[in-house]
Amino acid sequence: ALRRAANIHWQHLEVDKTARARLKGQQPRCLWFTGLSGAGKSTIANLVDKRLHAMGHHTYILDGDNVRHGLNKDLGFTDEDRVENIRRVAEVAKLMCDAGLIVLVSFISPFRAEREMARELFAEDEFLEVFVDTPIEVAEQRDVKGLYAKARAGQIRNFTGIDSPYEAPEQPEIHLRAGEESAEQMAERIVRHLLG
Ligand code: PPS
Repeated sequence: ALRRAANIHWQHLEVDKTARARLKGQQPRCLWFTGLSGAGKSTIANLVDKRLHAMGHHTYILDGDNVRHGLNKDLGFTDEDRVENIRRVAEVAKLMCDAGLIVLVSFISPFRAEREMARELFAEDEFLEVFVDTPIEVAEQRDVKGLYAKARAGQIRNFTGIDSPYEAPEQPEIHLRAGEESAEQMAERIVRHLLG
C-alpha cells in the first residue's frame, strides 16, 4: 500500500497550462498507446512524434522500456508492479501536459482500470487512447526482441498474452488494426485525428 504524506496542501500555480501551451501554439494532449509487446506501439509513436515535431509542435515520448531504465527501475512485471508503473507514468504525462506539451505514452498498459485511472487525470478532449491492435500471433511471429520465444520456453514469467493478461480497450479513440494500413498510414491518421 502507498504511504500517504500528511499536511500537504495543493499549491496554486499562477501560469496555467493553457498559457504555457499557447506559447507553443498548441493544445496540450496525451496520446496513450496500448497494445501487446511487439504490437508496434513504439514504432507508430515515433512516426507520429517525427511528424508533429516537423510541424513545429513540442512533443515528448514516454516509452515503457526507457522509463523502466530510470524512474521505474524498481518495478518488474507482476500485476502490482505494472499497476504502479502505469500510475507513475500517468502522473508524469499529466505533468508534461501541464507544461503545455503533446505527450505520447507508449506502454503495454494491460489493465483497463489503470488506463481509465490515467484518463481521469486529464480533461475530456485532452486524452486519446490509441489501441495498437496486433494479434498475439503476429507479435509473436515478429518477436523483434526474442522475448516471446523466452516466455514460451519458461525463461520469462508473467509475459503479457502468455501468462499475464491483456485487457483490450472497448472504446479507444483510435483503433489501429495490424495489416490494414502501413505504420506510416496509421501515424498519418493519428496526426489528422489530433490536429483535425
Ligand atoms: S506494462 O505492462 O505497461 O507495465 O509494460 P511496459 O512498461 O510497457 O514494459 C513492456 C516492455 O518490457 C519488456 N518486457 C516485458 N513485457 C511484457 N511482459 C513481460 N514479462 C516483460 N518482460 C520484459 C518488453 O520489451 C516490453 O516492450 P514492448 O515495447 O512493449 O515490446
